[in-house]
Amino acid sequence: MRVLSGIQPTGRFHWGNYFGAIAQYISMQGDPNNAFYFVADLHALTTVRDAQRLRKNVLDAALDLLGLGLDPAKATLFVQSEIPQVPQLTWLLMTVCPMGLLERCHAYKEKKARGLTADVGLFGYPVLMAADILIYDSDVVPVGEDQMQHIEVARDLAGSFNHLFGETFRLPKGSILDGSAKVPGLDGEKMSKSYGNTVECFEDLKAQRKKIMRIATDSRPMDQPKDPQTDNLFHLYANFANAEDLAEMDALYRRGGFGYGEVKKKLADAAEAFFAPARERRADYEAHLDTVRDILREGAKRASDKAEEVLQRAQLACGIR
Ligand code: ADP
Ligand code: TRP
Repeated sequence: MRVLSGIQPTGRFHWGNYFGAIAQYISMQGDPNNAFYFVADLHALTTVRDAQRLRKNVLDAALDLLGLGLDPAKATLFVQSEIPQVPQLTWLLMTVCPMGLLERCHAYKEKKARGLTADVGLFGYPVLMAADILIYDSDVVPVGEDQMQHIEVARDLAGSFNHLFGETFRLPKGSILDGSAKVPGLDGEKMSKSYGNTVECFEDLKAQRKKIMRIATDSRPMDQPKDPQTDNLFHLYANFANAEDLAEMDALYRRGGFGYGEVKKKLADAAEAFFAPARERRADYEAHLDTVRDILREGAKRASDKAEEVLQRAQLACGIR
């Protein structure tokens, strides 16, 4: 069974990315031949229009993933653009992709709804993503909830191609981590770079504490009991705390008579402790960038061998080889 996923290098990864997607990648790694993860720089081109920034983001994304626990002995890590077979397959898939399928996809639809004009790249984004998935004969694709629609597109395109040209692609399945659906941000909305409400996994610790102190809470009097399930501070804490500490916090909410400052401090401490080993690992990789480049080079080699095999299969099937 092959697991595959990609993440865009559009900025530093935040708690939403980690608990929504990256934690899943890490828990699913095991055999580097069967766990493929990549930095989706071709997708990022639809939003990042600054060469230097994109290059920096790609390296940061690789360092963040390695720091967070992606282990090159257990997974293949590479950069999307190093696999030229992917854009080649994208074209083949575009020729079997109805416009209507892409018109329903959320990134394009939302941009259009805001009255903005979309590039062909953004419109065709799900086809590139389908090529990413299908080209490695992927079985399972761990993602955040918002990406499930794109996995359906990949399945649809694989199905159409297979129907037209004979069995060529394996049909992938999406996978969402239980309870990870939506990590709230500082303002209680979904944590997202586009809302400016994020806490990064490797945020400077002082800045992190300051941000946590700003998290929106309600203004009910301190002595009143509160329902923890309706409080985003509690939801954030739940990601970091062990079962015992969480049960204690739950009881504290229900009893009342506490201040949110106290909870925020506990959250800051728990988050700091949680990411401490990752910080150390990241710093170590950052001090050995040659090692990181070797990891990415080897990853690209392994990925492109597989990609070439599947691309040739698709080319033969449709008659361009
Ligand atoms: P952002 O919204 O900050 O731009 P991305 O869209 O690049 O983040 O998301 C990368 C991955 O992280 C996706 O799989 C997405 O579903 C997941 N993700 C992002 N934000 C959250 C969140 N707040 N809760 C859960 N998962 C998230
Ligand atoms: N579109 C995904 C995101 O924004 C990133 C991505 C690109 C991806 N290609 C992929 C995810 C293939 C899974 C599989 O998060």
